[in-house]
Amino acid sequence: MEIKQEWKDKGYIDEPIPAGFASAEGRKQLADEIRRIAKEKNAVILAHYYTEGAVQDVADFVGDSLALAQKAAKTDADIIVMCGVHFMGETCKILCPTKTVICPDVNATCSLAESCPADRFEAFVKAHPDHKVISYVNTTAATKAWTDVVVTSSNARQIVDSFPKDEKLIFGPDRNLGAYINSITGREMLLWDGACHVHERFSLEKLLALKAEHPEAKVLVHPECKGAIAKVADVVGSTAALLKYSVNSDDKEFLVVTESGILHEMQRQAPEKTFIPVPPEDSLESEACSLDGAHAQMKCCACNECNYMRMLTLEKLYNSLRYEWPTVEVDSAISAKAIKPINRMLDISAKLGL
Ligand code: 13P
Ligand code: SF4
Repeated sequence: MEIKQEWKDKGYIDEPIPAGFASAEGRKQLADEIRRIAKEKNAVILAHYYTEGAVQDVADFVGDSLALAQKAAKTDADIIVMCGVHFMGETCKILCPTKTVICPDVNATCSLAESCPADRFEAFVKAHPDHKVISYVNTTAATKAWTDVVVTSSNARQIVDSFPKDEKLIFGPDRNLGAYINSITGREMLLWDGACHVHERFSLEKLLALKAEHPEAKVLVHPECKGAIAKVADVVGSTAALLKYSVNSDDKEFLVVTESGILHEMQRQAPEKTFIPVPPEDSLESEACSLDGAHAQMKCCACNECNYMRMLTLEKLYNSLRYEWPTVEVDSAISAKAIKPINRMLDISAKLGL
């Protein structure tokens, strides 16, 4: 099938889906059709917890950054469709260079990855030759190429702990995650000055007001949030860790301080519990909620959404599977360097049972 120049310019397939798929019933049929095509093409659909609920529902596997990389490394599918941001697609391609890796919209970048361009990171690393370099997975492949070991929010603490106490370390690009890891490990890692625009937006004032209104609620915080927010947390962890805690604990009510897409899986796994998304600084009470199911009926909200993750729609997923495009490509020289710190992360994680 021909890929139009116009789509190449846009970075996704801008083709309307058949009219029959537009209604509520049609969307169910669209999901069934996506499943059918994926099976026919031996494609695996991987989705991050921050994508819209309909995308999570159609995926073969939904996970956090570590689990998605682990899944990609082990798949025997011919095609990997990564419904996540571009660096996640790059990680799949680096781990599976002979497979077709698709990201339904290649514009789905990440503010953390953008905050750490490879040339500036290279200069920073070269200015500190006596330091080992730890990079958060939210980086481009070119930045990972300047790294000794990659981490995710699921394994950062353990991987930092695996270095001798007197080893000098650089940690990039997330200053909030880096500061949090410094605080719990007693390290003084040198931090790159980057941040996630979604997690930095959370309002401490609104969180404290919600906490006063819901004194029994446990506060679940992603470590990309600012330190003042993490201090109020009952649990700080990756999306998967927050999900696990919320489902397995005896607690019934939660204030969720991470991208609101995670509430979809929290509600699916624990429908009897109450999950309240904490709003960002600049939210309006009247803002519409894009979450589906029971939560949308609460009309609470002003959820904090990642505009990049929300680029991965069911419609784009359908078109990308049909056309097997847009593919994610990584320069072979960069890939040859970046695979080492990624594999080191996967090896350490496997040894630790993560
Ligand atoms: P997790 O690895 O915790 O899923 O986080 C990914 C991410 O992009 C957080 O903003
Ligand atoms: Fe990147 Fe932040 Fe979006 Fe996660 S939430 S993908 S860190 S921009």
